[in-house]
Amino acid sequence: MTPNVTRRTLLRSIGVAGGAGVMFESMRALGLVASPEALATPDYQPPAPGDLPAGKRGKKVVILGAGMAGLVTAYELGKAGYDCTVLEAKDRVGGRNWTVRGGTTATDLDGTTQTARFAKDQYLNAGPARLPQSHITLDYCRELGVPLEIFVNQNANALIYNEQSGVAPQQYRTAKSDVYGYVSELLAKAIDQGALDQRMSSEDKDRLLTFLSGFGAIGDRASGYAYAGTSRRGYSVEPGAADQAGVVLGPPPALSSVLASQVGRYFSFEFGYDQAMTMLQPVGGMDAIPMALYRRLGNKVRLGAAVTKLTDGPRGVEVVYKDKRGKENVVRADYCVAALPPHVMARVPTNLDPKVTAALRYPVATPVGKIGLEYRRRWWEQDDRIYGGITETDMDLAHVWYPSYGFHGERGLVVGYYNTGANATTYGNLSPADRTTRAVAQGVKIHGEKYRTELANAFSVAWQKVPHIEGGWVSWPSRSSGEYTLLNQPAGRVYFAGDWLSYFIAWQAGAIDSARYAVTNLHKRVIAER
Ligand code: PHE
Repeated sequence: MTPNVTRRTLLRSIGVAGGAGVMFESMRALGLVASPEALATPDYQPPAPGDLPAGKRGKKVVILGAGMAGLVTAYELGKAGYDCTVLEAKDRVGGRNWTVRGGTTATDLDGTTQTARFAKDQYLNAGPARLPQSHITLDYCRELGVPLEIFVNQNANALIYNEQSGVAPQQYRTAKSDVYGYVSELLAKAIDQGALDQRMSSEDKDRLLTFLSGFGAIGDRASGYAYAGTSRRGYSVEPGAADQAGVVLGPPPALSSVLASQVGRYFSFEFGYDQAMTMLQPVGGMDAIPMALYRRLGNKVRLGAAVTKLTDGPRGVEVVYKDKRGKENVVRADYCVAALPPHVMARVPTNLDPKVTAALRYPVATPVGKIGLEYRRRWWEQDDRIYGGITETDMDLAHVWYPSYGFHGERGLVVGYYNTGANATTYGNLSPADRTTRAVAQGVKIHGEKYRTELANAFSVAWQKVPHIEGGWVSWPSRSSGEYTLLNQPAGRVYFAGDWLSYFIAWQAGAIDSARYAVTNLHKRVIAER
């Protein structure tokens, strides 16, 4: 017997004896299904007051930055009674977790100021905007009482538009029907002609043909397994009552046209482990998460406090910061957790080993841009029957996101671009008004003139130009050249934290996991120190 048969026989007998639930748990134990606990720091223990003798409680920790990593560090250490002070240069908490609403004002590094004029209840999640089901971020939402709702990440009614192909925008469902249909036809033909006989038994071939018949909605053997299009593509005349059978959209373009249109190039995004058709978002804006942490931390967070110097010493750390009025203040603490972006931290004068500063300069910041376009009318719902989801393009706006909140409301806010790298640099270098003009001109190609005429307001962010942040996220040219390992260790009494020190870059889960890692190591050290 092969090990598989043994395992299957065993599971069957467990199933018979204990029922499906017991069988499922056994499969989990055997590693046959994913365990949710395995997905998010399974062994994390929040520091507890009982871990420390009375004399060691209330150690002082100064935390640089009130982004997710800094806030979570203070929140977790606070559980064991550490005396935390969080210094935040900006006048708000959250860092890149930033929700722009009517009245939000921001000035870029180049001096450009924008004020959002969005109507009440309209918002732009300028940073993180979608939460995967596997991420620890959701556990914090539960613990903090942050209500969640569905975020529509992929929508069959959203569009694909490749300008370079010259093909008109089409619904995802149409593109999928054609690509899956033709791929199925080709594979079925190859199987039928014996091209895969080396690889497959005749049973395998039968089973795969059965799968392809459903997957691609292709014809039978007599038709040569031809893909001829079905109602999966959509209708040019919707079906209705009585004699209204509807008119199926078609005929499908020829195989070679479908390949030339390249509509299939976006399908795989959803397959990424961190992505899915449906995801989650906090009700009312992503900043509900940092705001909930901020409420619990209260006066431990000092806003408008820009760090100007950090000195690490044998018995403690000293941090100098400038407050809102430009006055210098000093915070002395037993330890420091530096939760700033690495390239920003690298510029803070410190007495740390020059190797540490060099390592902080090593990760490369990525430019990232987003624009919120507020419309007087939810034409994407009313005219195009698009309720949330994302339209994919080959233009420099990259993606258009339709809102997953406020369905059927009066107004609505579309993300008119979300791009990275060179495209984000291009937009970021324009004035806010020119960014809007450029994004709208491209959107008109997809949705027509209403994309311009129904526009009420816009607000854009170029993360590379946001003071104290200066990038959307970072990438490591290498994680094995020493810098990543070095910064995941304390430099004297200074610990580093942030998504950039995790394998979840550009996710809040990375900031949270990294904060927990620093908290755990710091707490262990305090327990062990004499
Ligand atoms: N988390 C960000 C997003 O969902 C950036 C990202 C995109 C990260 C794709 C990984 C993969 O858009």
